[in-house]
Amino acid sequence: MRLSCLLPFLFTPLLFGQSHIEYSAAKKIWLLHTESSAYAVGVNPRGELENLYWGGPLWRQDDVPAATGGRELSSFDPPQSVINEEFEGWGGTRYLEPAVKITRADGGRDLVLHYASHTIQGDDLKIVLKDLKDDLFVTLNYHVYAAEGIIRKTALIENKTRQAISVESLQSGAWYMPHGEGYRLSYVTGRWAAESQLTREPIHTGTKILENRKGHTSHNFNPWFAVDEGSASEENGRVWFGALGWSGNWRIAVEQTPYAQVRVTGGLNTFDFAAPLKPGESLESPPFYGGFSAEGFGGMSRRMHRFELTDILPHGLEARLRPVLYNSWEATTFAVDEPGQRALAEKAAKLGVELFVMDDGWFGKRNNDHAGLGDWTVNPQKFPNGLEPLANYVKSLGMDFGLWVEPEMVNPDSDLYRAHPDWAMHSGDRPRSELRNQLVLNLARGDVREYIFGVLDKLATQYPIRYFKWDMNRPFAEPGWENVAEPKELWLQYVKNVYEIIDRLRAKHPNLEIESCSGGGGRIDLGILRRVEEVWTSDNTEAFDRLGIQYGFSQMNAPKIMSAWVTDVPNMNDRSTPLKYRFLVAMQGALGVGANLNKWTPADDKLATDMIAAYKRIRATVQEGNLYRLLSPQSGELTANQYVSQDGKQAVLFAFLHSQQYRQTPPPIRLAGLDAKAIYRVQVLGLLGTQQFSGAYLMQNGVSVRLAGDYDSTALILERL
Ligand code: DGJ
Repeated sequence: MRLSCLLPFLFTPLLFGQSHIEYSAAKKIWLLHTESSAYAVGVNPRGELENLYWGGPLWRQDDVPAATGGRELSSFDPPQSVINEEFEGWGGTRYLEPAVKITRADGGRDLVLHYASHTIQGDDLKIVLKDLKDDLFVTLNYHVYAAEGIIRKTALIENKTRQAISVESLQSGAWYMPHGEGYRLSYVTGRWAAESQLTREPIHTGTKILENRKGHTSHNFNPWFAVDEGSASEENGRVWFGALGWSGNWRIAVEQTPYAQVRVTGGLNTFDFAAPLKPGESLESPPFYGGFSAEGFGGMSRRMHRFELTDILPHGLEARLRPVLYNSWEATTFAVDEPGQRALAEKAAKLGVELFVMDDGWFGKRNNDHAGLGDWTVNPQKFPNGLEPLANYVKSLGMDFGLWVEPEMVNPDSDLYRAHPDWAMHSGDRPRSELRNQLVLNLARGDVREYIFGVLDKLATQYPIRYFKWDMNRPFAEPGWENVAEPKELWLQYVKNVYEIIDRLRAKHPNLEIESCSGGGGRIDLGILRRVEEVWTSDNTEAFDRLGIQYGFSQMNAPKIMSAWVTDVPNMNDRSTPLKYRFLVAMQGALGVGANLNKWTPADDKLATDMIAAYKRIRATVQEGNLYRLLSPQSGELTANQYVSQDGKQAVLFAFLHSQQYRQTPPPIRLAGLDAKAIYRVQVLGLLGTQQFSGAYLMQNGVSVRLAGDYDSTALILERL
């Protein structure tokens, strides 16, 4: 009998439907399967865990060789440098990004992790590593989301020694690309009002760090990466990608070693990090999710969108479609009061709005951004009878009521700060740096956490609030913490407490929905997304700028969570785009209106009413369908995005012309994701007539769109017959 016939008997049987994880006791290999990828790790003869494969699906376990352990190439090139070690402790002859680094009570730092044991339960694999001498354990947890094509990694370090240790770095894991060179990295950078700018650059030997040290996820970088072989496009090419679920200081290191290994290590930022672990204590990393697409960046995005919808967002696929929202901020700024909000609510309801959100200005002495943050009681001049009359009126108009809060902050000019100056982050008696005239509360403290939970719980109990817009308008500064053994723990504990407050609130108020806002897109990641329904994409609501921001945002994040408002012009810059263009830009996500409706003309109202009605017809497709980015705003003067519903029955094309020269007619736009054999009825949004085309024609020849002049736009709705 051939050896390969014998080998299957040495493997744990692959029970699809029960487990997508195989184990070969003979080769000490684990093979993880998803619908679109496979991932393999194994134990080498020294007991180290080696990554053996990450890429497209495999079906034959026999193909994966056992881990060899490599060899010493020279005294300067130890074996640990040339193998793909799955989770490196900083110890022995290791010089790359460590996945975990500690200091013992006696100052010893050496940590060498060897395989100790493992368990497989359903789609969960736990591999326990142990220091070669001490009772320091690291458990690597892998979860396979087989249908979505995603693998989740977390790492847990446990101190079972009799001495305290300090953890100086804990990463969630490392992802290895196939051995080689010529890779390219994609990521987003940005700043306030200019988030999610997509960047692509070649990976060369060395280390590139994407990170955030500001306390929240940050506008500057977002915790995800994509790596391709240098030439992937929207729909073609192999792309490896990953995203962290952490809303505090995070770090992703992209390394190409001189041995042509390319790997991405990510987790808690090591900057100013320390987590003491007493005997018996443990620390868990945030999750790092990874996937593989053989269908380019578009395939990557669709996979991540589906994953967010099914496995990350609260209530998963049971969650309702996002309602059309109105937000008062750009209309009134801080000048909110009951008559003004009632007037806006009436107008919003007539347009078809379903959720009315009152933004900043309703509490304390909040007439501008100099005072009031921290005093979460209704301003009696603006709302003499409290919030009930407004909230009830909004409800009587058939809308849900939402309220803006910024619970993590305090203005020095507030009763809260006067009562508890020590609650604000500070470093001894050194000056406290204000930004937007506010300080950050030290939410790592238990008493502050309880206070904030109490405030929000009271609001949610007292008023019929369906939705909190939870804002956070500045990064940390002077992150001191008095009377604790390790002040650096603030970074970690702060985020844990934000999560805890939201989790408790949601448990107590099951109908409550939350929007994550941090001056726009400063807190968007897979950690906060487990707890919120929407995010505020950017404070920049200028429609043409938004096309670029939404393009970067959509790389990782689903349109359903991408809150997008139609606002007035000019806005942020001198550009004055037509109202229809602004609507069509915003209709590509969770549609909202943020304009001053008092200034709209009857024609504006009519257009808005029609657009909102049209949006309701297509929103399931937009919010939960498959996105095809046909033409990028980063190139050319035409942007086009297409959405196809999950059942394939509806598709929507949005097209935008930025500028037109020489009266040139845009070329036909070739559609994607349709059934070539099916016939589609095509209707231009806003027009009555329809035409019919086959999917083949629409995808091969394309569809002509009538666009003329700067900032013209159109949308086509396709129904499969
Ligand atoms: C920043 C947010 O991004 C805005 O939408 C608005 O809520 C303001 N804060 C209010 O201060």
